[in-house]
Amino acid sequence: MSTTQTETAIWDIETVDPAKALEIETMRGNVASNPEAFWLEQAGRLDWATFPTIANTSSFEGDVSIRWYEDGQLNVSVNCLDRHLADRGDEVALVWQGNDPGVSRQLTFRELHAEVCRIANALKSLGIRRGDRVAIHLPMTPEVVACMLACARIGAVHVVLFGGFSPEGIGERLIDSGAVAVITCDAARRGPKTIPHKVTIDAALKHTGSIGSVKNVIVVNVSDTVVPMLPGRDHDYTALVSGQSTTCEPEIMNAEDVFFLLYTSGSTGKPKAIVHTTGGYLVWAAYTVDVTFAAERGTTHWCTADVAWITGHTFVVYGPLANGTTTLLFEGLMGWPHAGRWWEIIDRFNVSSFFTAPTAIRALMRDGDDLPRRHSLASLRRLGSAGEPISPDAWLWYYEIVGQKRCPVIDMWWQTETAGPMLSAIAGAQPLRPGWATTGIPGVCPSLTNEKGEELVGSGEAEGCLCFNTSWPGQTRSIWGDHKRFCETYFSFSKGRYFSGDGARRDGQGYLMITGRMDDVINVSGHRIGTAEIEDAVATDHSVAEAAAVGISHDLKGQGIVVFVVARSTRVPPSEAHLTKVISERIGRYATPEKIYLVAELPKTRSGKIVRRLLRKIASQETDSLGDLSSLADVTVVPALIGQVKEQFQPA
Ligand code: WT7
Repeated sequence: MSTTQTETAIWDIETVDPAKALEIETMRGNVASNPEAFWLEQAGRLDWATFPTIANTSSFEGDVSIRWYEDGQLNVSVNCLDRHLADRGDEVALVWQGNDPGVSRQLTFRELHAEVCRIANALKSLGIRRGDRVAIHLPMTPEVVACMLACARIGAVHVVLFGGFSPEGIGERLIDSGAVAVITCDAARRGPKTIPHKVTIDAALKHTGSIGSVKNVIVVNVSDTVVPMLPGRDHDYTALVSGQSTTCEPEIMNAEDVFFLLYTSGSTGKPKAIVHTTGGYLVWAAYTVDVTFAAERGTTHWCTADVAWITGHTFVVYGPLANGTTTLLFEGLMGWPHAGRWWEIIDRFNVSSFFTAPTAIRALMRDGDDLPRRHSLASLRRLGSAGEPISPDAWLWYYEIVGQKRCPVIDMWWQTETAGPMLSAIAGAQPLRPGWATTGIPGVCPSLTNEKGEELVGSGEAEGCLCFNTSWPGQTRSIWGDHKRFCETYFSFSKGRYFSGDGARRDGQGYLMITGRMDDVINVSGHRIGTAEIEDAVATDHSVAEAAAVGISHDLKGQGIVVFVVARSTRVPPSEAHLTKVISERIGRYATPEKIYLVAELPKTRSGKIVRRLLRKIASQETDSLGDLSSLADVTVVPALIGQVKEQFQPA
């Protein structure tokens, strides 16, 4: 376990408002004394076709069953759109800023509702029904939000796929999810570049071949790029959608019906589809956005995450819209066409809540204080950060330069599996502390265990594995098609607890600081990648006998990837460029390593396990503190390895 900030000084930023503190204290008291009543009250944030009479019937034991609001019925799109029509139908639901600074669009709740109904009817016209999986592979355009909501309207399960996945990666996910349709576009605009989408899907569908179940591909015109269309399978979005009716009866879903699947990486095996269900997820999205970010009517909320990640689902789409808040969607890049682009957008659209990842904050910080200072940023009320640990200096920069010392910085810890923030400072209710994700939000019970999974009881200072002792409405229900893997991954480490995979440190007041992943997951610029994924990709190349990937710390990305490769033959060893290409073809360019070292042998234990801890040290040039080597089968591997790495190392 790494403790990166053990010696960090602690600054508490006192912004406590007694009324807010009391409100949150009361919530904590209520949920502790009667959790059923508390969570049923939170269900009241939504409109239900049948209001649930029970909240939580989950069990972390045995076959693990997570169930919330199980006798409730509802439709997500009704909650995000229809119920706002009467009193705020003409208020803006979605502000869209295009890649080109001159292009933007605003859709009111009424307009978005009409578009969602049209798409829903179009999907139905293709025979897509409740429970069918629909893959969405779109850039940050209004259509992506409308298509997600259209799936919700007819009870189809959306599977949003990241634009950076390779055709092979997409093909695997299409097969695994059993998707019957894909919604994509011609090509996306990313700053000065055009990123092909339709041809990526065509290539992905070639990979899936006859095992694939995709019958229809809908193509949105985003960039006027000419793409091949396969008659019978491919449909032009405008032609399909524009003539449809603007009314569509919502499908009434059971609370525990699957709402969406979202792929993420684990420490072993292939990417897994995290399952979220309808009622619990939406209560959680509505609750967490409101409690952490005060989703007030008439304010504009901008979370810069791509919709293809959980942050995008919950903090761009469902959380803000369920609360009736305006959400901003930005198609382009942070620093294009000029470095102050984000600040310009905040001023232009009066953004009040701004939420991004530490990797972006570090990049903005590197650009200097001048750029944000040249903008007003007066509309900002609160700032959020999530996705990776934020260092105290980046936190303070964000607070002082962007937030002008008037906006709290809210560091939230969450995961694809948790669907929304679990640990978060609540502005006004407690002092803020740079570098600390602070405490569980009301209703969340974090705990720490030792490496054996035994709880480090109490609230005193401790360091260990971050677990949760009770369920919450947004908790993932399963891994699609592999409930056994689900039980093993999250519930076998500590009996009766959900294990997050992260390490954390607790101070005497119960504040928590995340120390990073404890498993073989690397967090590159907020993208979660399993070492096994990279190793499997590299090992498919015939030139490679064996590979091991590790994460090393990286100034901008948080972590970078380093791969150690043993060649099958020393006569024709693979080149670094070739292996990099293999990784980008099999996974995607976001998984590009910082460095690939060709080595003669990997360090292993007597039972044949690769000792990644040692590789991490060697890759980080920390060779004076290699630690205990007694578990190695052959210690002579180590000096040889250090020598080979030294030879190939080029300082950045
Ligand atoms: C992993 C989950 C915000 C959710 C999007 C990422 C790391 C997340 C924090 C934070 C330190 C964080 C953890 C976690 N992480 N938020 N505030 N401080 N680390 O979801 O892709 O499922 O990744 O991101 O390691 O396990 P994800």
